[in-house]
Amino acid sequence: MSTEPSFGACGKCAPDEISHVWERVNVPIEDKSYDILIGPGILSELGNMLDQFMPGKNFIMVTDSTVEDYLGVDLMNILEAAGIKVSMISFPAGEESKRMDVVVDLARKMVKLGADRSTVILALGGGVTGDMAGFLASIYMRGIPFIQIPTTLLAQVDSSVGGKTGVDLPEGKNLLGTFAQPLRVFADIGVLCTLPASELRNGLAEVIKYGMIWSSELFDMLEAKWWDVVNLEPHVTADIVKQSCEIKAHVVAEDEREGGLRRILNFGHTIGHAVEASSDYRIPHGEAVAMGMMAVARISEARDMISSEDVERLAALLDRFSLPRIIPEYIDDDSIINLIQHDKKVRDGRVHFVLCRGMGHTEIVDDVNSEEIIRAVTACRE
Ligand code: NAD
Ligand code: GLY
Repeated sequence: MSTEPSFGACGKCAPDEISHVWERVNVPIEDKSYDILIGPGILSELGNMLDQFMPGKNFIMVTDSTVEDYLGVDLMNILEAAGIKVSMISFPAGEESKRMDVVVDLARKMVKLGADRSTVILALGGGVTGDMAGFLASIYMRGIPFIQIPTTLLAQVDSSVGGKTGVDLPEGKNLLGTFAQPLRVFADIGVLCTLPASELRNGLAEVIKYGMIWSSELFDMLEAKWWDVVNLEPHVTADIVKQSCEIKAHVVAEDEREGGLRRILNFGHTIGHAVEASSDYRIPHGEAVAMGMMAVARISEARDMISSEDVERLAALLDRFSLPRIIPEYIDDDSIINLIQHDKKVRDGRVHFVLCRGMGHTEIVDDVNSEEIIRAVTACRE
């Protein structure tokens, strides 16, 4: 059995360069503070790192069927070669698997494997795996620890950080879940090389979101280095994952349970979710969020909260990343309005919108009316 790492650096980093690109971000949540390690080649070193971090522990790796083939089998070899006691369980890849019965099935496999309260779950995969394995960890024997090993850009910049876990119901996404923070996050940017372009775009939409809501410097950097960003140049990729994680860490440390500040992370998502659902989920999440960000930027522009130049910069950056910003005609206004009114983020009957207040700043308002939404959506149809 070979212990040579077969992934982790994309062939773009010289081996002696690898460790110099590792970054560490802390998520300073009281009593539950944890680190995110970011860089290429991390998975090749994971055996030694887990041995030092949690010596003698039993691990169960939860992954999906695609990631199992791309990374899971090789990672099992690396961990076993380092003397780590680990088993792997998997489920069919895709959002359709993010269901309670799949969680129950995984839990029963864990019982068969003898998992007890001292077992640690390794969530290896995208946001579906992270959300589901985190949820499983939070309810298995009333709660066991877990570690996030995100393998999509979206999971590295967003879903693996902040502790939201859960599954979908036929009535809506993420309707069952818990807040449960991981012990650590290992984000190996080298694994992103095999990601389909559409999945990369899903993550880039969230990175643009961080620029819009928090950091005009990040936005400037995405504009200046867009070519390196889309080509996953290692230093630039590590930098955008780090900056995104720093922003998310700051926000969730201040408001873990989304009572206030954390709501800014929904920038573009209220209209985006409505577009996504109106399309019967044919429009991928990241593309719908891109359209949603354009629409709220237009609402903000109409309220003189952001300049037309900055809205055009957003449009140009979405174009650079091949993220669509035109809302198709077949998504009709009524359906968007109706879905927004039934969004699970509606509180006390009022829809909260995260608007731009200049580049890198936001304001949450609850007085956006249907006419304003329709005007903004209309402006996004051409
Ligand atoms: P995903 O987990 O389904 O991954 C997308 C696809 O990419 C899957 O088919 C997967 O098998 C494949 N894949 C993963 N890593 C790969 C790799 N390195 N190479 C090749 N293929 C790979 O989807 P996602 O976009 O990562 O996550 C979406 C989910 O995240 C949604 O369920 C959403 O609700 C959730 N989410 C959660 C949070 C949170 O805070 N918890 C935030 C945002 C999104
Ligand atoms: N992605 C939104 C949140 O984590 O709150």
